[in-house]
Amino acid sequence: MEAARRRHARAAGPAFTLAIIVIFAFSCAESKAARTSAPASGSAPAFAVASQDQFSYEEKSSNGPDKWAKVNKEWATCGDGKKQSPIDISKVKTKKDMAPLEPTYKASTCTLQNRGHDFILQWKGGNGKLTIGKKDYALQQVHWHVPSEHTVNGTRFDVELHMVHQDSSKARAVISVLYSTKESGDPSKTLSDLAPYFEKLAGKRNEDAEVKEPVDPSVWVDKGSGYYRYKGSLTTPPCTEGVLWNILSKVQHVSKEQIKMLQSVSEKPENNDRPVQKINDRVVSYFEGDEETKDEPAKLSRGMLSRK
Ligand SMILES: *[C@@H]1O[C@H](CO)[C@@H](O)[C@H](O)[C@H]1NC(C)=O
Repeated sequence: MEAARRRHARAAGPAFTLAIIVIFAFSCAESKAARTSAPASGSAPAFAVASQDQFSYEEKSSNGPDKWAKVNKEWATCGDGKKQSPIDISKVKTKKDMAPLEPTYKASTCTLQNRGHDFILQWKGGNGKLTIGKKDYALQQVHWHVPSEHTVNGTRFDVELHMVHQDSSKARAVISVLYSTKESGDPSKTLSDLAPYFEKLAGKRNEDAEVKEPVDPSVWVDKGSGYYRYKGSLTTPPCTEGVLWNILSKVQHVSKEQIKMLQSVSEKPENNDRPVQKINDRVVSYFEGDEETKDEPAKLSRGMLSRK
């Protein structure tokens, strides 16, 4: 009985080995495919954003914004890139042939992380999409800058929200929302709803928390707003270019409490805005939007226009 079992095991040996090799090869191929076809996995490397421990926003520091390119060879673009972000938006070219921004997001669970210089919400596997031209960009993450990074005719705002999207070729498109305490309106309830998570992570660099209640990012995008569009870069190292920026021209309200909450990332509140970069030969396009008429007929006619 025992010998028979051993004999059987010996005979099965090579088959087992082969099976294991096949399974191993298959799972490798599968995980490689998953890595290349699903950049929206929500894991940190998919964003290719440097660890925030290595740079700072302090002007005089050895790793401050004007020295980012020297901190790490892979960050050279921060210094020699010609299409860097943020910029001051002043001269714009009004375009009638651009379409309204109409992202489709859904309420889904996400993770809030304290990255050291900012708070970031990430959706595993992405959340909905933003279609520009023929490209679909999946929403990967949103994070906040205090004060704003982009300025409009020299005016800086209190907060800027960046909604970072990526298409299947890893090209990025960002929707940016500017906030000011001077604007009227209700503070974003969705942001206030997240307060317990911000409190939990206040001052806790590199820690994260799963947000149990689903978050719907569409509350942050006013689809009737006009927007500015230009080609720029990530505003943090490695300052990668090829980012299509879409900055809503309609400034939203933010409360002082919410600003405090966003700044609780570090024990001592610090600004996390990169200085504005040279525009060089770039053109900023402007789509006027539909800020006054938000009723259904207006939306219909907009839809018809954008299909032409
Ligand atoms: C900035 O100011 C100039 C001069 O008043 C004006 O023509 C331009 O439209 C302004 N730009 C924006 C983005 O508001």
